[in-house]
Amino acid sequence: FAPALVDQHGRTISYLRISVTDRCDLRCRYCMAEHMKFMPRDRLLSLEEIATIAERFIERGVRKIRLTGGEPLVRRDVVELTRWLGRYLGDGLDEITMTTNANRLAEHATDLYAAGMRRINVSLDSRDPDTFRFITRHGDVERVLGGIAAAKAAGMAIKINMVALKGLNDEEIAPMLGWCAEEGFDLTLIETMPLGEVEEDRIERFVPLTAVLDDLKTRFDLSPADHHTGGPARYWQVADTPTRLGLISPLTNNFCAGCNRVRLTTEGKLFMCLGHEDQVDLKAALREGGIGAVDDALDVAMIRKPARHDFRIEREAAPAVSRHMSVTGG
Ligand code: GTP
Ligand code: 5AD
Ligand code: SF4
Repeated sequence: FAPALVDQHGRTISYLRISVTDRCDLRCRYCMAEHMKFMPRDRLLSLEEIATIAERFIERGVRKIRLTGGEPLVRRDVVELTRWLGRYLGDGLDEITMTTNANRLAEHATDLYAAGMRRINVSLDSRDPDTFRFITRHGDVERVLGGIAAAKAAGMAIKINMVALKGLNDEEIAPMLGWCAEEGFDLTLIETMPLGEVEEDRIERFVPLTAVLDDLKTRFDLSPADHHTGGPARYWQVADTPTRLGLISPLTNNFCAGCNRVRLTTEGKLFMCLGHEDQVDLKAALREGGIGAVDDALDVAMIRKPARHDFRIEREAAPAVSRHMSVTGG
């Protein structure tokens, strides 16, 4: 008998985010420093270890798994992992999905679909080649759009993630929503969060999504949508289109009371909250004590899961946590 994962605040954990690598082939300015130090490869969980830990979570009630990075598609065996976890679809798992920058999506879209992936979130902060290159430092937007088109052709539902950045892409938000409506994609707007030191001044770039929503309501017919993915976004339906607009606004509208997720890093650490440093070492548990020890560690994690993050955007303040978003994949 495997008891459900319920934390001290009565929240049931049904959503596991697995970061399969902390590496990335882009360097988005709000996410990473230009010269990042990555985890030495010998500290990473093997594919079998990730699968074993994920199976423990499925046994204990996790219904949705999202593969993240860094950029998940830079890890060579990620399709194999998807295939492995895909066996649980309809038999424990409702969904296996991914958050990707789509740089390598064209090569893998068909295989991912065949492995059971039906929905994918793609980070796309701009469709303008120069702005995209500036934000990502290395990115080629045509290549990424090609990846998105390949996923669409493969039959996947697509949600675009766009971090709102003042002076960089804020003028592009309305056109991006129009494009998503034409393509049949959902769009989620995200407030920039203070994770890890980057060269950018996040306060200078911060855009409160409350103001963005007010503006979008003057341009689109938006009504509250009854749409739930188990993620933190709140959705609006764009009238006469299949498109939903999601808002992820941890700074202007805290959503932690409904939190249902934990995050496994590529090194086997379990983070109970995106906004806290506390972690439980599942790799050590697995290697030293096997599955039983992993179960015990999960019980400890449930006791320690914090009630909420306390992200704030303040001038001269250090980031809320020193680890970069790429360690946990958001
Ligand atoms: P859906 O399954 O489509 O709802 O995806 P998702 O929003 O759960 O995942 P995605 O990887 O697309 O994440 C979008 C943004 O939400 C990223 O910037 C994440 O960091 C952020 N996010 C996801 N979960 C949390 C959370 O618990 N707290 C905070 N502050 N941000 C989160
Ligand atoms: N704040 C908000 N979103 C971020 N992402 C990466 N770093 C940050 C940050 N500091 C986004 C990416 C991706 C998602 C997983 O997280 O753009 O869409
Ligand atoms: Fe890579 Fe995503 Fe971070 Fe951009 S936001 S650097 S694509 S992990």
